[in-house]
Amino acid sequence: MKKISCVIGTRPEAIKMAPVILELMRDTEFCVKVLATGQHTDMLKQALDDFGITADYNLNIMRANQTLDHITASVLQGVGEILDEYPQDMILVHGDTSTTFAAALAGFYRHVKIGHVEAGLRSHDLSLPFPEEANRILTDGITDMFFAPTRGAAENLKREGKNESQIYITGNTVIDSLYEILKRQKGSNEPEYLRGIETRPLVLMTAHRRESWGVPLVNICGAVKDIIRARPDVMFVIPMHKNPAVRNVIRDELKDFTENVRLTEPLSYPEFVQAMNKSAFILSDSGGVQEEATAIDKPVLIMRTVSERPEAISEGTCILVGTERENIRRESLRIMNEPEYLNAVVGKNVKPFGDGTASVKIHEAVRKFFGEE
Ligand code: UD1
Ligand code: UDP
Repeated sequence: MKKISCVIGTRPEAIKMAPVILELMRDTEFCVKVLATGQHTDMLKQALDDFGITADYNLNIMRANQTLDHITASVLQGVGEILDEYPQDMILVHGDTSTTFAAALAGFYRHVKIGHVEAGLRSHDLSLPFPEEANRILTDGITDMFFAPTRGAAENLKREGKNESQIYITGNTVIDSLYEILKRQKGSNEPEYLRGIETRPLVLMTAHRRESWGVPLVNICGAVKDIIRARPDVMFVIPMHKNPAVRNVIRDELKDFTENVRLTEPLSYPEFVQAMNKSAFILSDSGGVQEEATAIDKPVLIMRTVSERPEAISEGTCILVGTERENIRRESLRIMNEPEYLNAVVGKNVKPFGDGTASVKIHEAVRKFFGEE
């Protein structure tokens, strides 16, 4: 029986690895363990709970205001120790966090096979997103199986000289998760945080990127105030990331705007999907939200200057607006006030990030990999 550990550390890794974990666990040929680094605490647990998954090991590394050095060093050491005690045939890592890279490195040092889910995304700018672009490239440097979500991601890997036989185009596993939640949600009630605002245009906003800390985040909040002045009927729902560097700024800037802003704790994944569905549009710097919103045909103004998910822009419903206050204000009001503009963004009915079968494809590829060994 082959031993496989799925390593996760943050909220998006849990959401996007959940369908892979559940799919692999159904296979009696595999002994599958969930190794949490605990880079996130509550946000990780919340996402795992949504899928009924419990971690087999949790390194609990998170500290308040943790540094990149702390995450990288403690994940490398902690995952290494677990792999020494419980040798594995393969580890699966996801995406671009510091958990992803440090866990892959611990596996590499022990000659454990590495499968990288969501491999090959590139912004082609090492400073954006930071440090995620580097984490992804470094992880792909030591990966054995590349699970590329799109053709474009696979092309990036080929251009970097990766062996084509190791690349599998699977779609993005977040679409599997999203479809599962949408299936469960049919007919469910209005969530608490949406009560009393049903008739108002809803804007869902999330922001957390490291490169937005400080002035850009203040600009983003400034744009929210400008939009409220221009459209007093609007209601913002802002689930605040747990990071104090983010939530303290959002709270300070927007606490007096209670008529138009609902600041909430991080929403459970089902609640967040409902909020996306109900929104007129989304303002976000998140990676996963770009993929999800494209799948449900919801416009997203991406508060970044580049995206490692170009399909979300060329084929999807996403527009890059950066973090300049005026740009965010102008584009938001265009989406709300100009139906032709909105219609040009939505209704394309293309699904660049997959059809909800990514985890099945990953499972098949892993089975075949071990079958051929
Ligand atoms: C991390 C990832 C980022 C990913 C994001 C998803 C890195 C370097 N960054 O960024 O790629 O997009 O997660 O959300 O890997 N905190 C809590 N409770 C939690 C989670 C966070 O209190 O459940 C606070 C802690 O003070 C922590 C801080 O947030 O020190 C920052 O967490 P960290 O994982 O370092 O950075 P993120 O901005 O969350
Ligand atoms: N999300 C959630 N609750 C929230 C905000 C986001 O469940 O309050 C989900 C969202 O649907 C997406 C993921 O979390 O699947 C994105 O996480 P985040 O923005 O923290 O990270 P990124 O995708 O930028 O790495």
